[in-house]
Amino acid sequence: MTDLFSPITLGGVTLPNRVVLSPMCQYSAVEGVANDWHVIHLGRYAASGLGLIITEATHVSREGRITPGCLGLYTDAQEAALKGIVASLKRHGKSPVGTQLAHAGRKGSAEEPWRGGKALAGAEAWQTLSASALPHDTGWHVPKAMDEADIARVTREFADSAKRADRAGFDLVELHGAHGYLLHQFASPHSNKRTDKYGGSFENRMRFPLQVFDAVRAVWPKAKALGMRITGSDWTPGEGLTPEDAVALAKILKDRGCDFVDVTGGGVSMQQKIALGPGYQVPFAAEVKKRTGIPTMAVGMITDPHQAQAIVAEGRADMVALARAMLYDPLWTWHAADALGASVFTPNPYLRGRAPTAPIPREVAPQQVKGVAAR
Ligand SMILES: Cc1cc2nc3c(=O)[nH]c(=O)nc-3n(C[C@H](O)[C@H](O)[C@H](O)COP(=O)(O)O)c2cc1C
Repeated sequence: MTDLFSPITLGGVTLPNRVVLSPMCQYSAVEGVANDWHVIHLGRYAASGLGLIITEATHVSREGRITPGCLGLYTDAQEAALKGIVASLKRHGKSPVGTQLAHAGRKGSAEEPWRGGKALAGAEAWQTLSASALPHDTGWHVPKAMDEADIARVTREFADSAKRADRAGFDLVELHGAHGYLLHQFASPHSNKRTDKYGGSFENRMRFPLQVFDAVRAVWPKAKALGMRITGSDWTPGEGLTPEDAVALAKILKDRGCDFVDVTGGGVSMQQKIALGPGYQVPFAAEVKKRTGIPTMAVGMITDPHQAQAIVAEGRADMVALARAMLYDPLWTWHAADALGASVFTPNPYLRGRAPTAPIPREVAPQQVKGVAAR
């Protein structure tokens, strides 16, 4: 039986436990540059003893952003800001820190959700790119179907951002291959109607995402970790990506040196019907893990410590990623450790806030926890 609070090694990076902060856009950057909001937001998680922090979707070009408030990693100023934040997270926490590199494709040039989340209008809008010249929905921008020069350029942009991520001190890169963004737009038959070598068969639709993976693998250190967020299902019966496709893609990724996959779903088609419920996407992760053996992360309405423990202990996934539950309770990891009787990192200034019954973290000297131990 594998415990939620046991370590796992991805590539050359060891996570102290299997609880992962799922990437969450904050739409709060200016010209793609992280600021004090990102320090506040991510700092809460560094203090909570997570196994891995994955920062929000961080875009490889200006046109690749979802909204004007999205983070980027394509300028020196963006790299410098993230470098400072990563250094702080690692100085004060024990969680490895990863970034999610992304390109929004046809879902870009959008308003921040709290402005309405619709396509931008007027001078704020920009030309989007995709596999085919098909808008995401009515009222959305018609993207340019990428030609071979666009494909080569965007591939280079992913590799360049990965180099910046390395210099900024990130331990891990997750490529965003899901949720209807650019790599998924090539992978899914809903959005890819191309007739060249990048469209049609499974092999052709996966060509661009795999080309991006290879380009990043070539520049991303083996001593760190590289993975991809992939689609377990487009949630569109009859057409679209299925768990079988996720298994096939994960096998190829594993052979090409991918250290983990993070299995999610949906986001590419307005016809989707998602069967929401606790752990609703865990079966996709379980199928991928069982059939490929690649280290696998499950995500989607994992909220309860015992639920998370069961997913890992029963071998349905190697790690669990939580998003909304982490916004609600940034100290979820502490609460889970207490519920499961496990030990978790606690920064010294927070020691007296731990539950009286919580086990004392092993890495803390006994004299430092007098207040906790005495109760
Ligand atoms: C505020 C917010 C922002 C998100 N941004 C991203 C993102 O940047 N990249 C991504 O892959 N998923 C993003 N997601 C999806 C989550 O990572 C996660 O897959 C999804 O919310 C399901 O997990 P949950 O039920 O634990 O929230 C976001 C979710 C939320 C709530």
